[in-house]
Amino acid sequence: MDKIKWGVLGTAKIACEKVIPAMKKSKFSEVYAIASRTEVKAEQCQKKRNIPFAYTSYEALLKNKDIQAVYIPLPNHLHVEWTIKALKAGKHVLCEKPIALSVNDLKKIRKTANETGLKVSEAFMVKNHPQWIQTKKLIDEGKIGKLQSIHGFFSYYHTDRNDIRYKYKEGGGAMWDIGCYPVFASRFIFDEEPLKVIALLKYDKQSGVDILNSAILDFPSGQATFTVGTQLVPYQRMQFFGSEKMLEIQIPFNAPPAKTTDLYIKQGDLFDKDKETIQIESINQYTIQADAFSQAIINNTEVSVTLDNSLKNTAVIAALFKSVRSGKWEVPEY
Ligand SMILES: NC(=O)c1ccc[n+]([C@@H]2O[C@H](COP(=O)([O-])OP(=O)(O)OC[C@H]3O[C@@H](n4cnc5c(N)ncnc54)[C@H](OP(=O)(O)O)[C@@H]3O)[C@@H](O)[C@H]2O)c1
Repeated sequence: MDKIKWGVLGTAKIACEKVIPAMKKSKFSEVYAIASRTEVKAEQCQKKRNIPFAYTSYEALLKNKDIQAVYIPLPNHLHVEWTIKALKAGKHVLCEKPIALSVNDLKKIRKTANETGLKVSEAFMVKNHPQWIQTKKLIDEGKIGKLQSIHGFFSYYHTDRNDIRYKYKEGGGAMWDIGCYPVFASRFIFDEEPLKVIALLKYDKQSGVDILNSAILDFPSGQATFTVGTQLVPYQRMQFFGSEKMLEIQIPFNAPPAKTTDLYIKQGDLFDKDKETIQIESINQYTIQADAFSQAIINNTEVSVTLDNSLKNTAVIAALFKSVRSGKWEVPEY
């Protein structure tokens, strides 16, 4: 079967170091072209990753009629503009998270996707990872009793003010960069939308972006809380508390491609003597992300992360920001 020919807009770190090498291992994808605003960067990435075509503008790549899908790893404030341009150029789009910084912008993408009949998906690579599929299955089967509380933590230490994560106008800040993950994961596991949300944010004095956030999401069946921070010891964990047991994902968001990861199920012994460990196969989550998106194109099936799902995730994040301004609980506007 022919592979889907992909183009990549921008020589982003995530693209050149992680996603392109992973996509090259995909059964259904071929990395066909790279574009950069700078000739030398386009050539460097082309050479390093052995990519057939390199372009010195994103527009030029979009004009290549052989390219069927594009991957967009641009700074957050450019996601909407280039997703819409790519759709109008006849390409399916896998766009990095967060695909949009407002619900209105997401609706614009959805309108263009509907008009063109092309597929768009936000690159929440975790959705296809076996550790998340297994977690959902175990919880749905009642392994921990009735799920009532989700707790998430995601942090790293990074203070380079030149990084896009420290640019306020470019959609920087901890909430858009990593807060989006526990929001996405809690909605996925509860399989519900929060009724109301509230958050507390701490801002970086130099750049104005948020660097430490804690949030509460009130779901019909229970509560989710999370803390994310960008000037903290690196750590990540997701914990799911049921009426009988709790389940914990050891490395929920950056599961390494060449090492197994663990799920822990604990029965309540405070010294963890009763801990059950489920080992999850090592897998590259960016490879399976590309496989899944290419297969959705080939078979004309629904993408793993639909635009409706992204719209709801964005609505929750927008409500969290709104609650910081109002100091009150806010209702997401889906
Ligand atoms: N899913 C994940 O695991 C994951 C991990 C990390 C990041 N991400 C997401 O991926 C995206 C990129 O993150 P990154 O850290 O890889 O970014 P990055 O290294 O800073 O790369 C962004 C790229 O965008 C292009 N660009 C176009 N206009 C730009 C502008 N005004 N300022 C800066 N760059 C501009 C540049 O490519 P050219 O100069 O070549 O045109 C640049 O290399 C973000 O949306 C982020 O949230 C996802």
